[in-house]
Amino acid sequence: MREPRRTPGVVVMTAAGLLALLAPTLSSAPVRASTSRASMSARAEGRSAWSGVYTAAQAARGEEAFRACTYCHGRDLKGGDDPPGPALRGEIFLMRWRERSVGDLYVRIAETMPKNNPGGLTLQGYADVMSYLLQANGLPAGMSELPADPEALGQIGLAPATGAR
Ligand code: HEC
Repeated sequence: MREPRRTPGVVVMTAAGLLALLAPTLSSAPVRASTSRASMSARAEGRSAWSGVYTAAQAARGEEAFRACTYCHGRDLKGGDDPPGPALRGEIFLMRWRERSVGDLYVRIAETMPKNNPGGLTLQGYADVMSYLLQANGLPAGMSELPADPEALGQIGLAPATGAR
């Protein structure tokens, strides 16, 4: 099988599951090792991002901060081809990330986005944008904010909670 590397757009449409496993290793960094270990324990403990892990106020701040992203990902987060940017909401996006943690997604964004200005937001800004992405994908708000801490975010799995709690 051809390995769909970083071809924007196309990548997301094809072999989503396989790519979900390969993609994060493409831009590896020290912090990633610790967050992926953390995401293993997130699954073991069953704490889910679907249990209310950000607040509505935080997501509202995140929507503001997301202006740095709309140029490529669209105001509706549906993405586009010109300039290229994958959709950040919907089935395909959720399927790509469901086996990983909020921390994995946070690190991916904080290290590589905005693509034209990586690291351009504050860590708090990235946490806020992260909460906006959760909201836009239909995950419920809760009582406490997402912390700007990859280690803590690594404890929160993106898959819906299974069975107990
Ligand atoms: C200049 C265009 C551009 C801007 C601005 C931009 N992105 Fe991206 N983004 C891309 C492209 C292209 C990809 C896919 C290829 C890659 O990762 O380089 C991507 C990939 C992503 C992914 C991975 C999607 C997936 O399913 O794996 C996330 C998450 C993301 N961007 C979030 C953001 C956020 C949040 C911002 C704003 C802080 C942002 N991007 C700003 C172009 C952009």
